[in-house]
Parts: sequence; structure tokens; C-alpha cells
Amino acid sequence: MHKFKIKMAKQEDVFKKLISHAKEYGFIFPSSEIYDGLSAIYDYGQNGVELKNNIKQYWWKAMVQLNENIVGIDTAIFMHPTIWKASGHVDAFNDPLIDNKDSKKRFRADVLIEDYCAKLEEKAQKEIDKAAKRFGEAFDKNEFETTNGRVVEYREKQKTILTRMAKSLEAEDLDDVKALIEELEIADPDTGSKNWTDVRQFNLMFGTKLGASADTATDLYLRPETAQGIFVNFLNVQKTSRHKLPFGIAQIGKAFRNEIVARQFIFRMREFEQMEMQFFVPPGTELGFYEEWKQKRLNWHLALGLGDDNYKFHDHEKLAHYANAAADIEFKFPFGFKELEGIHSRTDFDLSAHEKFSGRKLQYFDAERNENYVPYVVETSVGLDRLFLAIFANSLKDEVLDDGSERTVLSLPPALAPVKAAILPLMKKDGLGEYGEKIFNELKYDFNMIYEDKDSIGKRYRRQDAIGTPFCITIDHDSLADDTVTLRDRDTMKQERVAVSDLRRIIDEKTNFRNLLSKI
Ligand code: GAP
Repeated sequence: MHKFKIKMAKQEDVFKKLISHAKEYGFIFPSSEIYDGLSAIYDYGQNGVELKNNIKQYWWKAMVQLNENIVGIDTAIFMHPTIWKASGHVDAFNDPLIDNKDSKKRFRADVLIEDYCAKLEEKAQKEIDKAAKRFGEAFDKNEFETTNGRVVEYREKQKTILTRMAKSLEAEDLDDVKALIEELEIADPDTGSKNWTDVRQFNLMFGTKLGASADTATDLYLRPETAQGIFVNFLNVQKTSRHKLPFGIAQIGKAFRNEIVARQFIFRMREFEQMEMQFFVPPGTELGFYEEWKQKRLNWHLALGLGDDNYKFHDHEKLAHYANAAADIEFKFPFGFKELEGIHSRTDFDLSAHEKFSGRKLQYFDAERNENYVPYVVETSVGLDRLFLAIFANSLKDEVLDDGSERTVLSLPPALAPVKAAILPLMKKDGLGEYGEKIFNELKYDFNMIYEDKDSIGKRYRRQDAIGTPFCITIDHDSLADDTVTLRDRDTMKQERVAVSDLRRIIDEKTNFRNLLSKI
């Protein structure tokens, strides 16, 4: 049995390594690379697209297949421009931006302040960790958090700052947001300069045109969220599916935002994918469903097995224009805890606005209540690319093996792995290649497979480890005689002799989505 040590590296190095690994092994390429790329736009390669499709499947199955009262749709990216007026995006989908006059770099003012608060929280956490070490088993975390002077002070300071920022943003008091940055002496994180411009609002939607001639063309937007396609189809789906409330509509699709501060690889992109579900409920019941979906969505993430401590809820102080309660599920990315998924109680804001702007009724007749009403909505919205990054970052490990050698392994949840098994004949000649191809051709209908007969077997194992293939199947001369092969497990590196006739069952047991879905 092998024992592994995980090699520890600095966070920055980890992130750099992740980006180069993603490129080297065909997961993610910078878009338009031969023209020097396009900032914050990325292409998914041959392994990336498989992993991404598997993540989509995990979400779709969990939402649509496992819930009798949720159906899926796929709506167009182009939508009638009035939709974005109704939804509030034309007037309110803005980021408060601030420029540093010395470095000429642009930042989101709210993110600068939130990062400052995150540092206060880190300090509080350090105090808690120190005390936990000192007191050992006798440590009462709750009591310490509520009575320790320093922890209380750090937390109260955060609260005061965030409340003030939320109030100022709500009141469009951008001068006060700048004043807050100056009072806290927040500096440009790259250069240390505190020489700031005023804060300005910047709309994030991309504009485009529909039509042939310049005079008659209609101004359109690329959708900044997929949710509106669900709202405007609410009655179409409700009537044709004949679902009663509560019921949900799910959708996976591209969204576009002109992010000014687009950094951190695929964490914040200008073109990205969302997986959104709107759950339509009777008015007055929304906060109960909101709590329920918060927990369900957390459980869905936890089932991936990336570590329970890597997730936390962040309840919003500053609510979006459409919400009466909102929380993020945050994940511990290589650059700290950041939003992975948003869960919003969106009230009847969107449907009522579309009623008003379109002049069409978007109401539901509730037979039990014997009344018509505009349903309330609880939304779950997760960024597919961000989830990809979370899974990829958490799975990528450098290990030092017993014999001192090293390997890089991508220990993806097996159901999500791009390739489920690699067929590796020790050599192509002596009929081993043909035998391998025969196994490949039998299993390819059930699993995404790879056949490879070049390079040493060690090198081929390492390549499969690097893309996260759960099984390697090695064919040798004995295979021809007794129809057995060597099956190597990615995680334990254990090798066992198994009958070819057992391969389908063994691979299925390990890689079936059932393994994830049954844990939710
Ligand atoms: N319909 C609600 C909505 O769009 P959001 O919090 O703006 O809410 C939801 O976005 C999720 O979409 C986020 O939690 C994040 O995972 C993802 N997301 C948002 N902007 C993104 C970007 N620029 N790049 C990648 N993912 C993004």
C-alpha cells in the first residue's frame, strides 16, 4: 500500500501551477491565443469540455431528474431589449469603480472594502486558532468568539464597515464609498498607492445590434444572467407542464458581463456559463423555501467530497434590487473564500415588472387559495466556470511517494473525470494492441475511454493521473492467454488483476453519477 505526502507550496505558486496544468493537459486555453489572447475570455480544451459537461450533468440530474417538480429549458441569449429595462439591469446593473491615479489600475470599490474586511476576519480567525491550540479539548469556540476582546473588536469593525458601505451603495452615495476607502487607508494592493479618483457607476451589460442596416437596427444586450429567460417563459412552462406551485424551472447557459476587474483566471470572466433554477412559490412562503434551498444546494456541493471546511455561507448585508433575502455559498479558492453560488429570494419583483412592461398577465391561479397571484421566486444560481475552478483547484495535488519520487494527480470525483479509463497495452505488437482495441471498442459505448500504446507504461500512468483518469487498464501477454488485465487505481495506485468480463461493472461502480447523487 502506498502512502503519500502532499507537497505544500505557496498559494501564489499553487495558482500559477494550476493555470499551466490546465493548459498543458488540454483543460483550458487562453482564447484567441495566437493573437495574444483576449482578456478574461477562455476556451475549454478536449479534457476541459468533458469535465465541464460532467459538472453540468451532475447539476442537471440533481435538479431536473431527481425533482419531480423541476423542469429544464434552454432559452435564447438574445432577448427583447425591454426585458432588461423591466429587470432593472439597464438602470441598476452597475459596479462602483475607482481608479488609482498612480498605477492607472481600475478596481471595484466594494471589492476593495470587502477585501479589507476579509483581512479583519483572517485576524479574528488567527486568534481563534491560537486559542484552540492553547486550550486543546477544553476549548469552547462559541464562548471565545463572543467574549475575546480582540475577536469581538475585529468582528464589530467588519460589521460597521459593511453596513455603512451597504447603506451608501443603496443611497447611491458614492462620495461616502470613497470616503470610507480613504478613512480605512486602503491602498492599491499591487503598488501601495492611496491616490484614488472618485467612485463612478459602470453598467456591465454588453450592447450589440440586431438588423441589417444601421438606421433600422435594434439595440440589444447580450444577457447578463440566464434567469430572465426563465421568468419570461414562466407561463409557457407552467401551462404546458401543468405543474402546480411550488415548482421550478432550471437552465444552463451562457451569460456575458463587461467585468472591469476581471482577474483570477476563470473565476471572473466576461463570457461565462450559469446554472440557474427559479423556484416559483406562493407569496408568504418564500423565506421557508429560501432556507430549504440554501441547505439543499450546500449538500449538493458537499457531496462532491472536496472537504466540508472549504464551504461557508455568507449572508448578504447589501441586497440586490430584486431580493428580500440573499446568501452566497463561498468556497475556499486558492486566493481565499469567495462566492461560488448565490441563493436569492427574489420576491415577485421580476414577474411583476414583466407584467408591467409587457402588459401581459403573468399570474397563477391557486385552486387551494382560490385566488390569482404573481408567484414569488427563490433562485439558486451557480457559475459553471467557477465551479470548474473550485473542483479543479481542489483536486490538483503534488504527491511525494514512498520511494521519494513525485507525481501530479488530479483526484477528481470519478463521475466527473473526463476519461473514465485508459487502455494501455504494454506494447502494440504481439497482438496486445489489437486486444486493447477490442476492449476499447466494447467499453466505449458506456464510458469515455482513451487507448494509448506509445511511451513507457510509467509515463502513460503519469499522463492519466494528470488528467484525473480513475482507472488504467494494462494489457500484457498473460491477458491474451487468460482474459485478465491489470487494473490500476488512480488514487491508491494499487494494481490488481481482474477479468476483462468484470471491467464494465468495476468502472461503473466507481464512476456512476449515482455515487454523487445518492449523497445529496
Ligand atoms: N441570476 C442571479 C445572478 O446572476 P450573480 O450572483 O450575479 O446572480 C450568479 O451570479 C453566479 O454566477 C455567481 O455566484 C458566480 O458563480 C457566477 N458568476 C457571476 N459573474 C461571473 C463572472 N464574471 N465570471 C464567472 N462566473 C460568474
